[in-house]
Amino acid sequence: MTEFEHVPVMPDQVIEYLSPKPGRVYGDGTIGAGGHAELILESAPDTRVVGLDRDPAMLEIARQRLSRYGDRVRLIHASYEDIGEVLPDLNLEKIDGMLLDLGPSRDQLAGRTAGEGRGFSMWGDEEPLSMAYDPGQPRTARELLARLSERELKELFGQTLRGGEVGSVVKSILKARESAPIETTAQLTALLREALAYRGPAVEKRMAAAYAAIRIAVNREIEVMKRGIDEAVEVLRTGARLIIISFHGLEHGAVRSHLRNLEGKRLGPPRLIGAPRSKGKLKVLTPRPLFPDEGEVAENPAARSARLHAAERL
Ligand SMILES: C[S@@+](CC[C@H](N)C(=O)[O-])C[C@H]1O[C@@H](n2cnc3c(N)ncnc32)[C@H](O)[C@@H]1O
Repeated sequence: MTEFEHVPVMPDQVIEYLSPKPGRVYGDGTIGAGGHAELILESAPDTRVVGLDRDPAMLEIARQRLSRYGDRVRLIHASYEDIGEVLPDLNLEKIDGMLLDLGPSRDQLAGRTAGEGRGFSMWGDEEPLSMAYDPGQPRTARELLARLSERELKELFGQTLRGGEVGSVVKSILKARESAPIETTAQLTALLREALAYRGPAVEKRMAAAYAAIRIAVNREIEVMKRGIDEAVEVLRTGARLIIISFHGLEHGAVRSHLRNLEGKRLGPPRLIGAPRSKGKLKVLTPRPLFPDEGEVAENPAARSARLHAAERL
């Protein structure tokens, strides 16, 4: 059995909001190590899961973990934004709920997949600077750090770093790449540590924020998430639930406002609370995103920044 580290976050809330029913089919757009999928398969008799992941190594972990469920589980190497194309190949048109658990899994961060780390984390051993969930995609961290203009780099790091930090990191990258390409986590970590050092003891948090900005850009995570929600809405049956777990401040706001956009628009004066809405595609069930309780965070500190958003297809 393949080992895995990833512990599914907010398990009780995921099952409460997804509310799986016997014999129904659920999409897990980011199956990862299969933790949430296992909960769905255990939550009611004969539930079925269509699991997608961009990382073939994570699909292999999920395959081994979920093998005892036989053909109740179908695993596909695809991005969740393509769920609409995947389902017809499985003779499915609609599904009864969908989960998106965004961001990298602990196994990817720990560089334990595909025999070779992909540079997701500044804590691991020296790894090539890919940060692509799909190892087959040409867009990598290495490639972006070599190619982006000063303005584009400022935009990228401006997503997660503060003004002065952005200038300092971008200046260091431009200088470093004049002599040699930035190709490994060791190089990037040393560069960031130096560029951000004068910012005081919280430097590691700021370095992690810089890593997150690069990973989000490499995988175009915000655009993909929006397209993924739009696609999910098209394949969900009326009454089916969409659950999204986000981990990063950038994602929380983007998920929330995108779900709101798909809710009906308020008719009448914009501030009139209680004014009727035009018919939208979704009803948001979590006006404020839910977060993990203290007990969960104590047991699984990685869950600390998780936020759960739930909506129902109208
Ligand atoms: C946080 S992990 C999911 C963990 C999983 N819920 C569990 O309990 O084991 C997120 C997974 O999403 C995958 N991923 C990221 N972007 C994706 C995309 N656009 N489409 C499909 N999978 C994606 C990553 O490769 C990773 O395996």
